[in-house]
Amino acid sequence: MSIAPIALDHADRRAAAKLVFDGVSKRFGRGPESVLAVQRADAYVGEGDFLCIVGPSGCGKSTLLNIVAGFETPTAGEVRLDGRLVDRPGAERGVVFQQGALFTWMTVLENVAFGPRARGVPAAEARDRAMAYLEMVGLKSFAKRYPYELSGGMQQRVGIARALANDPDVLLMDEPFAALDQQTRELLQEEIKRIWKRTRKTVLWITHSIEEALFLASHLVVMTARPGRLKAAYAVDFDSERDPNVTTSAGFTSAKREIVGLLREESIEAQRQEGVAT
Ligand SMILES: Nc1ncnc2c1ncn2[C@@H]1O[C@H](COP(=O)(O)OP(=O)(O)OP(=O)(O)O)[C@@H](O)[C@H]1O
Ligand SMILES: [Mg+2]
Repeated sequence: MSIAPIALDHADRRAAAKLVFDGVSKRFGRGPESVLAVQRADAYVGEGDFLCIVGPSGCGKSTLLNIVAGFETPTAGEVRLDGRLVDRPGAERGVVFQQGALFTWMTVLENVAFGPRARGVPAAEARDRAMAYLEMVGLKSFAKRYPYELSGGMQQRVGIARALANDPDVLLMDEPFAALDQQTRELLQEEIKRIWKRTRKTVLWITHSIEEALFLASHLVVMTARPGRLKAAYAVDFDSERDPNVTTSAGFTSAKREIVGLLREESIEAQRQEGVAT
């Protein structure tokens, strides 16, 4: 496996772009207390790209994802999906939040079946589809429970099942596996990779795990410390299957070393800012 630097905002990528970030900036609040979370992000994301985003805590990753989801509006610049300005949420974009956002008054099954039902899928079919995804995330036997009866990691898995059951065009995933144990995480990573290969959905995936990014991504972006800018981007030439030896292969180790190096610089910068701020 290997990674190769690319310019995500290169004009050549524009024609095939599904998702366009055009000078996207986001400032929260006004005046001296305001926080510039994202600064001039430019990128063309191709149809079917699996773009993993890594960067230090607080650098604006979730903010960027929320802008694509239509939950936040940029203070400057714009995001376009299939040429249309993104200015509100839409069913063609499925979101899994960093922290579970399930409907607390619905059972697990109802949560997952909600999207298909809302789009007019008949009840029995929506239920079957929801069950299939619950089985995939290992929660079939919890279908009739309520979210409060589940652990954080289980709720997160329901969120993933719910996003997939909607069959969105674009998947927006904010550290979806952060709360999972290593075993579950690896199984779901493989499952997601299978789904992606089959459906070639466009995916934006935030993670703090470089291994996860290298395993999943077709493209990888490293963000700077806040204000988040795109520091470096890579095309990932990945192996088709998870090979237990891949993580010890020379290609993987050197790719990991490169990304770790970039991230370390940014984490030090983030801590320095924190020190200045307090
Ligand atoms: N709604 C908001 N109001 C004010 N400030 C916000 C808001 N959302 C985010 N911020 C600020 O914007 C910055 C970026 O936050 P964001 O959540 O995007 O970071 P992140 O990269 O996702 O971090 P983490 O890896 O810890 O999840 C932070 O300084 C945060 O305090
Ligand atoms: Mg975040």
